[in-house]
Amino acid sequence: MMAPDYRARVEAASQYLRSQISEFPSTAIVLGTGLDALISSVSVISEIPYVDIPHFPVSTVQSHQGSLVYGTIESQPIILLRGRVHLYEGYDANTVTLPVRALGLCGIKTLVLTNACGAMNPDYKSGDIVLLKDHINMMGHNPLEGPNVDDWGPRFPDMSDPYSSSLRDLVRRAANDARIPIQEGVYVSVVGPNLETRSEYIMLRLLGADVVGMSTVPEVLAARHMGISVIAFSVVTDECSLEDLQPISLDDVLAAAKKASPKLISLIKGVIRLI
Ligand code: HPA
Repeated sequence: MMAPDYRARVEAASQYLRSQISEFPSTAIVLGTGLDALISSVSVISEIPYVDIPHFPVSTVQSHQGSLVYGTIESQPIILLRGRVHLYEGYDANTVTLPVRALGLCGIKTLVLTNACGAMNPDYKSGDIVLLKDHINMMGHNPLEGPNVDDWGPRFPDMSDPYSSSLRDLVRRAANDARIPIQEGVYVSVVGPNLETRSEYIMLRLLGADVVGMSTVPEVLAARHMGISVIAFSVVTDECSLEDLQPISLDDVLAAAKKASPKLISLIKGVIRLI
């Protein structure tokens, strides 16, 4: 449920960011687990640790850094969020989405989200990049709960095209140009932090999902509420075989994400060029 001071916290964060960044970019990219290597493709203009931004939540897990970068990719101005916080850390859905809300108030028009995921779809292999085409929210939490801030968006936001079909056309073009194969699939979000049991993977597959992860959906809901267009990429870090489930470690997840990073970087560069 939304805390009474949430709007004020978002506005304070956004005001601070606007005071630091004179011409605010229209595109922001969120880097998920193991995907920090994208920073190497950015000409950094400034970098602000999350701890310096009023009310920005700070990650409690080591695999996520915490800073906001203002810079350019392919000469296009962008904001990069290096790391995010998750519901499993104990943050509520409003706090998890505070950075997206603040960027929304700063005038962001397009949000590119990345994450690591497990794949239930047997055609997906570790290291594959999945362009999300839809999602199922199984978190039992929603950043839109509570009083609606009408200045931000409608009470009942439409979700018929959460992952912009026109931007997905661009991604397909960029993937084709760079000869990077991509999958397109449905993401189901869970709170975590445990990975799923075999029976849970079977259930999530039955529900119609191709991949599963512990992030992204709250950010998509907050962004769409504000009219921000969304693209999301999942990197498959573990194959959740429904017949022969193998143990999964964080090290495996990080290694697989790191290995897929160069492909994702080329793809994001290509997309930024086309946006
Ligand atoms: N399940 C949930 N979240 C994940 C997984 C998974 O198998 N892999 C990476 N993030």
